[in-house]
Amino acid sequence: MTGGESFSLFLATPDETVRLGEMLARCAFPGLAIFLEGDLGAGKTTLVTGMCRALGWDRPSSPTFAIVNEYPARQPLAHVDLYRLEDVDERDFGLSDYLSDGWILAIEWPDRLRAAEFPEWWRIQLTCADSGRNVRLSSSGRLACEALEKLRAEVCRGD
Ligand SMILES: Nc1ncnc2c1ncn2[C@@H]1O[C@H](COP(=O)(O)OP(=O)(O)OP(=O)(O)O)[C@@H](O)[C@H]1O
Ligand SMILES: [Mg+2]
Repeated sequence: MTGGESFSLFLATPDETVRLGEMLARCAFPGLAIFLEGDLGAGKTTLVTGMCRALGWDRPSSPTFAIVNEYPARQPLAHVDLYRLEDVDERDFGLSDYLSDGWILAIEWPDRLRAAEFPEWWRIQLTCADSGRNVRLSSSGRLACEALEKLRAEVCRGD
């Protein structure tokens, strides 16, 4: 089910990507999976940097050599990078357990997942455009769709 409307925006600088990441974290909720899609260097990890900042976790480690990086902030976040893998099951690395335990999951290269059925998710698609990035955001699940609406309002207000 892809219920919510999708929307798009343009991010001119890395700082704007970080700021969107902060908004993502403010609007996300326990049990939400966030699929971060885009080519190498599209800005997926930059978004997670912003999320960590908003959650009060200053120094996100790079997940380049780890599959899962845990940020056990007040609202815990697990940052997953599946680039080197294929055919990953949602139970691998305890992915579905993170969600049922109230973590937010931010997943780079979610196309490596085999037909995962997470109940509530956002899809964030980044593409390079000029010197910045186009972003398209969509959602599935009732709570995820409501939260994405809240995010859209926040983006429109520019705060
Ligand atoms: N809106 C933007 N405009 C221009 N550059 C950006 C923007 N957002 C991020 N970048 C830059 O893109 C580069 C790559 O970012 P990042 O590491 O987040 O990409 P990634 O999608 O995680 O890549 P990978 O797939 O290799 O993990 C960084 O130098 C970052 O500063
Ligand atoms: Mg990355």
